Order: sequence, then structure tokens, then C-alpha cells
Amino acid sequence: MSGENTIMSNTITILGIESSCDDTSASVIRDEEELSNVIAGQDVHIAYGGVVPELASRAHQQNIIPVVDLAIKKAEIEKSEINAIAFTRGPGLLGSLLVGTSFAKGLSLSLNVPLIQVNHLQGHVLSHFIKRNSDDSCQPSFPYLCLLVSGGHTEIIIVKDHFTMQSIGKSIDDAAGEAFDKCAKIMGLPYPGGIYIDNMAKAGNKNAFTFNKPRIPDYNFSFSGLKTSFLYFLRDRLKDNPDFIEENKSDLCASLQTTIIDILMDKLIKAVKQTQIHEIAISGGVAANSGLRETIALEAKKRKWKIHIPELKYTTDNAAMIAIAGYYKYLRKDFASQDITPLARYAI
Ligand code: KG4
Ligand code: ZN
Repeated sequence: MSGENTIMSNTITILGIESSCDDTSASVIRDEEELSNVIAGQDVHIAYGGVVPELASRAHQQNIIPVVDLAIKKAEIEKSEINAIAFTRGPGLLGSLLVGTSFAKGLSLSLNVPLIQVNHLQGHVLSHFIKRNSDDSCQPSFPYLCLLVSGGHTEIIIVKDHFTMQSIGKSIDDAAGEAFDKCAKIMGLPYPGGIYIDNMAKAGNKNAFTFNKPRIPDYNFSFSGLKTSFLYFLRDRLKDNPDFIEENKSDLCASLQTTIIDILMDKLIKAVKQTQIHEIAISGGVAANSGLRETIALEAKKRKWKIHIPELKYTTDNAAMIAIAGYYKYLRKDFASQDITPLARYAI
């Protein structure tokens, strides 16, 4: 297959499909510009306080056709204009990935266009290349350092080109997003709790409480100790005052959020000093955090870094980042075969 559906000779149109966790998303990218990016979340997990894999794959099955259909309509293109289908191969929940993978395979066969497999983490890193309009010129230049912070991953990556990425440090246990979500759950906030902590932190005092930061060598991170110390701290306070959480929620959120940001920034600053790379990007769901966005902007000003902070819609899981990664793979003719299978674990 050679992508014979090209209508306008100099443009490349990619349909991206993302289904690695609990968001079903489809996006159309023309060259590097986003034409549509439709995301269907799954409220079914809220009652369980976390993603239930079996329910996630069922919801993907229900959502995928309407989501892809809407993405094509919103992009105002015909299916015949699509040059290739890019899909998330992993990492993620196997049942969820299978839905997107199978759908992408079927559509690539029926449209007779190439299939492109994308690593979800590379998608997050490359989300900075999505253009909001054809004049958008804020793409990073290589090499840049990317702090990838999501619900499943916390990594510092040297991005040498679109597909040469070197992870120089990662979490040895929980991801930063998991720390937000687990601590939110301890406080009785809904899942996923990162955004609730972010919102409540705005009215709180970040110096009200201090929590221990881990001592982990190199550029690696650890967040499970913070979650445990937060749990024990609250358990002790609740003994004296059963309303402690309710009375101090904003301060707890602000103090916890600051601790997480400090842990991230300490390692990032260390990595910049060591690598001497001063072009910095943040990616992933936790890159939506207003405290992190403000802090990195302040540090950048102070330290003369050039920073790339993604638009909110490109921080949490979305198919536009899969489509842009697919676009660069298309240029290299890096196509997948029909017997490709999803990968629950897939390093960057
Ligand atoms: O990238 P993402 O959508 O999914 C993964 O690939 O994991 O990230 C989801 C994570 C969740 O842990 C969620 O709580 C966190 O991103 N998150 C936030 C915020 N918005 C989403 N964490 C802190 N502050 C936010 N505003
Ligand atoms: Zn993600």
C-alpha cells in the first residue's frame, strides 16, 4: 500500500487513534496542523476510584466509531483524503489497546492506506509539534529535554530528533500523576484527582504542611514514599480532629502539589546542568497542572531556558499527538504490517 488516496499532492493527512487507557480519541492532522481532535472520556470509572480495565475496553468499543466519525466530520475532510492511519500500539491496558489497534487495522485495509504504529510516550513528547494553525512556528528545536509527567510515567528524556529519544531518568515506583490521584483518593476527592488538587490548591497555603522528599540518585524519581507519608500524616491528624481534611483541604492540596512540583523541578534542574540543554518541554497529563506550569515558567525566566508548555488539550491523552507522531513516521515510510499486536509495556 502506498497511500494512493493522496488528493492534494503536497499535503499529508493522517488519522490518529488513541485508546491506551480510558480516553477514546481520534484526530485528523494535515501536515503538522490539527484539523480535529475528538476525545471521549469514560465516566464509568469514577464510581470505582480508578480505571477498571474490562470496563475501559467495553467503553472503547462503544465510542470508537462515533469518535472517529466525528473527527473526520470536524476536520471537514472526506475519508478518501486520509493518507495513513496511525494508532497507539502501547504502552497501556492491553484490552483498551486492542480496540484501537483492531479498528485501525480494519480502516487501513478498507481505505487501502498504510498503517502506522505509535509509541504513546513518543506521542506525548511530540505533542509540541502540533500546529494550531499553519503559521504556528513554536515547535521545539533539537535537542530538547522533555519532562514527561503522566498517570503512568515520569521521565526525563533527551529528544535528539523526532524518533531518537533517550530516557535519562524515570520513576522507580509511582508516577507523578499516580501520586496526585492516590493522595486525592485519600482525601476523598473523585478520580482522577490531579485536577481537583490543582483547583483546590489555588486557594491554599503551600507552606502550611511539609512532606518528606525522597532521596533518589541521578535523575530518577520516587513518589510512593510521599503517598505513604501523606497517608500517615492524615491518619495521625484525624485521630485528634475527624474534620481535619475538610478544614484544611486547600492547604493540604497546595502543600502536596508544591512537594510534587519541587521533586520534579529538582531533577529537571539537575538534568539541565548536566546536559547543558536549555530547551525544555513538559508533556503528559500532569503538564496540565497550573502550579507546575507557573513554576517552570518562572524557573525558565530565571535560568534563561527556552520552554515549551503544551496547550491543555494536548497534555492529557489525545489522538492529535498520535497523529503528529504518525505524520513523521509517514515521511520516513515507517509503516506497520497487518499482523502487528499491541504492547502493554513499550519503552520510549
Ligand atoms: O497523560 P494522561 O492523560 O494519561 C496517561 O498517559 O497516564 O495523564 C493522566 C494523569 C492523571 O494522573 C491525572 O490526575 C493527571 O494526569 N492530571 C493532572 C492534572 N490534569 C490531569 N495532575 C495534576 N494537575 C492537573 N491539572
Ligand atoms: Zn498518556
